[in-house]
Amino acid sequence: MRFLVFGATGAQGGAVARRLVAEGHAVRGFGRTTGVPEGVEAFPGDLGDAARVKAAFAGVTHASVILPMVYEPDLVSAYVRNVIEGAGAAGVRRLVFNTANRLPDTDTGVAAFDTRRAAVRTMLTSGLPVVVLRPSLYLDNLLMPGVLESGVLRYPLPGGLPVAWLSHADLAALTLAALTREGLSGVLNAGGPEAVTGATLAAAAGARYEELDVDAFAAGLGGALGEATAREVAATYRWIAATRPAGLFAASSWHGLELTPPREWMVGAEIVRHHRVIEGWLAGTGGFEAFEGAHAPGFTMVTPGGEVLSRERMLAEVAAARGADPGLRVEIRDARVIAEAGPLVVAAYEEWQRGRGRRATAVLRREDGALRWTHLHETWIS
Ligand SMILES: NC(=O)c1ccc[n+]([C@@H]2O[C@H](COP(=O)([O-])OP(=O)(O)OC[C@H]3O[C@@H](n4cnc5c(N)ncnc54)[C@H](OP(=O)(O)O)[C@@H]3O)[C@@H](O)[C@H]2O)c1
Repeated sequence: MRFLVFGATGAQGGAVARRLVAEGHAVRGFGRTTGVPEGVEAFPGDLGDAARVKAAFAGVTHASVILPMVYEPDLVSAYVRNVIEGAGAAGVRRLVFNTANRLPDTDTGVAAFDTRRAAVRTMLTSGLPVVVLRPSLYLDNLLMPGVLESGVLRYPLPGGLPVAWLSHADLAALTLAALTREGLSGVLNAGGPEAVTGATLAAAAGARYEELDVDAFAAGLGGALGEATAREVAATYRWIAATRPAGLFAASSWHGLELTPPREWMVGAEIVRHHRVIEGWLAGTGGFEAFEGAHAPGFTMVTPGGEVLSRERMLAEVAAARGADPGLRVEIRDARVIAEAGPLVVAAYEEWQRGRGRRATAVLRREDGALRWTHLHETWIS
């Protein structure tokens, strides 16, 4: 089997490509640039270039397709046509089309929905063995600057609307299933294991929920995506806020895989966030307050060497290390929640730096609008 992953240089396609590589598959990654995940064969090209798309499909048996943030109907149609022609010429055994959102049942006048609805129709009538995956909203969106800050989760969704938030990692697991399971076809919803309201989602991070005004959201996105794209993305949230579509973001049950509940994902996100702060401090670029404030009063730590540190001693040692290790990358693996009781959460994870790993058990407490570190115990991985 050879897999072709569109958008492999991006967030969702990148997660899919990484997962396929981890499963030992041969993976080719398509995007305009070459920054594909490790182990993926980069195949740079533009979706609008029919010949290049066709060439990418050479020898491919399975394809994962996602469209970029382009909402111009003729351009989207051309992208879809090129993919269908390439896949048809290669005789792919399965093509999974990720619509990158749940889609309303009828046209809405919102290009980001309607162009994908048209793409689904074209895919399903192409004669190819297509599975359409309609994912819910992504937990990873909550990592955007300003979304979860100072004890408040600000998002442009009605607070009472239940959403089965999905992580990119779980999207990758679902895409793998959709690509390889026998007998799948048609349109499948992909979602996290439970649909939760904004308040429940925020509480998982110890925060409160605030419905963000869609215009303010669009203004925030404009810097990263460009104004025109931000406007189209914002239009989807404006439509959701106006219609409050009950059930659109419901959990889905076809997959039977163990997916990450939002409460667990929030803990993993805090562990990763915390280590990005440490990287910044050791690089000499970040501030100290974010690190210091993450530790609850009375924090204690057992180092990999068995030394016991008080909060004050640990903070003093880290404070002295500003700029001591520029370029250090800390990789967090296998973060999971071991137990929860009241505001307390016990989590375990591996931390890898320069090829050396340690196992960590952390006790965190939901308080003052955040998950705050209460205890940390580390052991070298031999
Ligand atoms: N449901 C949600 O919560 C949610 C959240 C975010 C986004 N979305 C949707 O997800 C889709 C974007 O996926 P993403 O999050 O993975 O975005 P992303 O990180 O921006 O990735 C986009 C990918 O498309 C590639 N690309 C862009 N233009 C291309 C072109 N003309 N030809 C070939 N490749 C091209 C990019 O690679 P190069 O730059 O290398 O070309 C990149 O690999 C959009 O439809 C967006 O509306 C949904």
